[in-house]
Amino acid sequence: MSTAAMPEFPAGFRWGVSTSAYQIEGGVDENGRGASIWDTFAHSPGRIADGSTGDVACDHYHRHAEDVALLAGLGVSAYRFSIAWPRVRPAGDGPVNARGLDFYDRLVDDLLAHDVDPVATLFHWDLPQSRQDAGGWLARDTAHRFAEYADATAARLGDRVKLWITLNEPFIHMSLGHGTGEHAPGRTLLFDAFPVAHHQLLAHGLAVAALRTRTTSPIAIANNYSPVRAAGDSDADRTAVAAYEALHNRLFTDPLLGRGYPDGLGFDTAVVRAGDLDVIAAPIDVLGVNYYNPTGVRAPQEGSPLPFELVPLQGYPRTAFDWPVAPDGLHELLGWLHRTYADDLPPIQVTESGCAYDDAPDADGRVHDPQRIAYLDGHLRAVRAAMDEGVDVTGYFVWSLLDNWEWAEGFTKRFGLVHVDFDTQVRTPKSSYAWLRDLIARP
Ligand code: BGC
Repeated sequence: MSTAAMPEFPAGFRWGVSTSAYQIEGGVDENGRGASIWDTFAHSPGRIADGSTGDVACDHYHRHAEDVALLAGLGVSAYRFSIAWPRVRPAGDGPVNARGLDFYDRLVDDLLAHDVDPVATLFHWDLPQSRQDAGGWLARDTAHRFAEYADATAARLGDRVKLWITLNEPFIHMSLGHGTGEHAPGRTLLFDAFPVAHHQLLAHGLAVAALRTRTTSPIAIANNYSPVRAAGDSDADRTAVAAYEALHNRLFTDPLLGRGYPDGLGFDTAVVRAGDLDVIAAPIDVLGVNYYNPTGVRAPQEGSPLPFELVPLQGYPRTAFDWPVAPDGLHELLGWLHRTYADDLPPIQVTESGCAYDDAPDADGRVHDPQRIAYLDGHLRAVRAAMDEGVDVTGYFVWSLLDNWEWAEGFTKRFGLVHVDFDTQVRTPKSSYAWLRDLIARP
């Protein structure tokens, strides 16, 4: 970790932390909530590393006041949470459940009372199960149902939400949820998952139009990005890098920023109808960037169904997820977005950045996580360096406030600034929480 003082960030820079509904809320049967694809998936044997579910998770549904107090103590100016579609419209379509919205209404008011800007994500992967039964994201209809849900939510929470984020990481939901099957709904369609990309993007565009009629707050999408590094220097390796880069970094950004789908991926694009690309390219005010690590790629073996093969990157420290710790990747990524999309690129907020380590309380009950402090220190310096080079970055959100239910990894991966004992639900701020609090509070 650098011993030089952390450079200053401009006044008004948004400091935040992020969470998502299914990962923290619990309360899955309360106040009219419907089932989501993650309830179904987590309850299917063999899907989750430790056999756990999000039935209780961090019990945030009942402990939200304590969690807002933790946010206030941290001094963040913003909190990014997600709204569970199955709480608001339990069947995916049909009647809106006012009791589902009541929970977020109270949360938003509590945040504002503590001077924390509510930043709401409308879809963080928890599709209502009934919508899945009707075809899920393979069905075009789902895009329209999403826009209706966005409209109903904004009708209630309107301008109290300070930044709306339509979708979280549509690339991960397509690739892990529908391409390889490690995430809900567990489909293994590989490149036949393209309709999931298109219908999510269409849902985003339709939701932007709906939200504009309800709010004057800015609107964003949160994409996952990963700079791609070639494992060799053959022409075949370079071709593989270009293919992976188009898939991971451009498939969801080129059409959003008015450039249509990238060429050369070989998708069957029959689901794209006249006018869809204009809907998708509706102007957004902020691009949310979720960054965790770069990806190593080489040419595929003969007969592989994919045009690339992923390989571990050597030479970096690693997190408990075995992900390389590479702040230089964030610096590179921000520069790449700035150069590639030039005048079409809106201001960026880093909407997720963080790391998992096996943090545990010591004999005195304190949780020391120096590796997370080093991680955040490095990534914030990377952001600052990109800003010095002209990239317009206006915020940084740490993933995550709390240790939580990490999807297919269950409770085995701890990403929090705050340790959670999942047996007792006791929350213990880690040393990284104090470090970030002091950084934010600098005069
Ligand atoms: C997701 C989070 C997840 C985090 C760490 C992101 O892909 O948006 O929900 O917990 O990465 O895996």
